Amino acid sequence: MAQIGYSKKVMEHFMNPRNVGVIENPDGYGKVGNLVCGDLMEIFITVKEDKVDDIKFRTFGCGSAIAVSSMVTEMAKGKTLDEAMLITRKDVADELEGLPPQKMHCSNLGADALHAAIKNYWVKIGKIKPEEVKEESHEGEEGESCGT
Ligand code: FES
Repeated sequence: MAQIGYSKKVMEHFMNPRNVGVIENPDGYGKVGNLVCGDLMEIFITVKEDKVDDIKFRTFGCGSAIAVSSMVTEMAKGKTLDEAMLITRKDVADELEGLPPQKMHCSNLGADALHAAIKNYWVKIGKIKPEEVKEESHEGEEGESCGT
């Protein structure tokens, strides 16, 4: 199936998303929403020796959001929490060999949900204070819409 503007990697992750699901009693949980399109992403992690041991996602979102979630879970698995915190929205889009311009913004949810899950864990273990975690929600950068 040809999809104009979508890289092979995006299509592949969309068709065969990795790490889909829910972890019961996760060590860290992150949920972010996009106020423009209503898409929602949740990430669940377990942590062992300060590394992302297991990671799963659930996305109520567009195809790009699914591909982004799948990619971000693959990128984060096995990394230390500090390393995983350094994964940016752009890194995820780059790993997917780019997204069409009007879908770039869909890459926001993946990295943000991952970071939210790690911060949730850090709050639990007392590394950071709850006040240091701000609510993540996205209206689109500079007012852009996500094109759906
Ligand atoms: Fe909303 Fe992609 S994340 S359209």
